[in-house]
Amino acid sequence: MLKIEGLRVKYGADEVVRGVDLAVKKGECVGLVGESGCGKTTVGLSAARLIDARKGKIVSGKILFEGRDILEFDAEGLRKLRGRRISYVFQEPFSSLNPVFTVHEQLKEALREKGKAQEAISEILKSVGLEKISGKKNIYPHELSGGMQQRVMIAMAIASRPDLVILDEPTTALDVSVQNQILELIAELKEKMNLSILFISHDLRIVFSMADRINVMYAGRIVESGPKKDIVSQPRHPYTKGLIGSIPSLKNRKKRFEAIEGKTPLFSDLPKGCKFYPRCKFRIEKCEDEEPAIENISGDHFARCVRAKELV
Ligand SMILES: Nc1ncnc2c1ncn2[C@@H]1O[C@H](COP(=O)(O)OP(=O)(O)OP(=O)(O)O)[C@@H](O)[C@H]1O
Ligand code: SF4
Ligand SMILES: [Mg+2]
Repeated sequence: MLKIEGLRVKYGADEVVRGVDLAVKKGECVGLVGESGCGKTTVGLSAARLIDARKGKIVSGKILFEGRDILEFDAEGLRKLRGRRISYVFQEPFSSLNPVFTVHEQLKEALREKGKAQEAISEILKSVGLEKISGKKNIYPHELSGGMQQRVMIAMAIASRPDLVILDEPTTALDVSVQNQILELIAELKEKMNLSILFISHDLRIVFSMADRINVMYAGRIVESGPKKDIVSQPRHPYTKGLIGSIPSLKNRKKRFEAIEGKTPLFSDLPKGCKFYPRCKFRIEKCEDEEPAIENISGDHFARCVRAKELV
């Protein structure tokens, strides 16, 4: 369905996506996880050709959607792609809802076929658990709670019956109980519509609950990827191990995610060798010299660490 190859993206002089490969198959939910600023949103936006050209530039790589490189699409091709095949749910809360139009008007706009719009809107609202507003045509986004607004955003994303949905931190702005309801809704829609999903989050716990495959990103590159079961039971990259170790336990919910010591490096000042070197508990001398290549561990499991095979 989607295959990203060797993607490099720059903002000004900083290369913030430094050669990313990633694939999403039909009906699969693929997670992209990593700390704030590592480049997740930039990868997601690139995959839908939504990088603002005044700010950023895709320097090289391929973004194959059903085998065709969308980096070569013209404006008309992109319009069709975004309106019908790929939908994006943005990270900034509610930035895709327009405050001056009603929910109904906005949903109508998002529909692929405009005939029988009222029926279609009711159907979609029902599928996202908002049947109670399907009769209320004059509701504006600000009259809804955060959770309901997020349901509307998801409704808009599926209204065009896309094949691929990119969800960028879809629940980060919501409190935990609402978060769980939205995640359940996403899982349910995925099954029902056989959606392919690229699920972006800084929260490994949420990614574990949603994704079939997981890509762990650090400083602009994938450092580990594999089926969820491999990442959960046999993480090989020290960064992934750190993320797993910092998932708050049920007893200690208040503890924050940032339990890995040290800070993420600045893109303007990346270490020469392994980018995780300054923070890595397992580092050895040679890690400082050269950034490791990504290596196959077993089956479909890959890691970018010189010690990946010994760190079981
Ligand atoms: N429009 C922009 N102009 C300049 N730099 C940007 C822009 N957008 C992002 N960046 C920089 O690119 C890097 C990657 O940003 P990106 O938003 O992709 O990270 P992220 O992993 O999605 O982070 P977060 O978890 O905070 O959403 C960051 O260092 C960020 O400061
Ligand atoms: S290559 Fe070295 S520094 Fe980098 S993660 Fe592996 S052990 Fe740590
Ligand atoms: Mg982001």
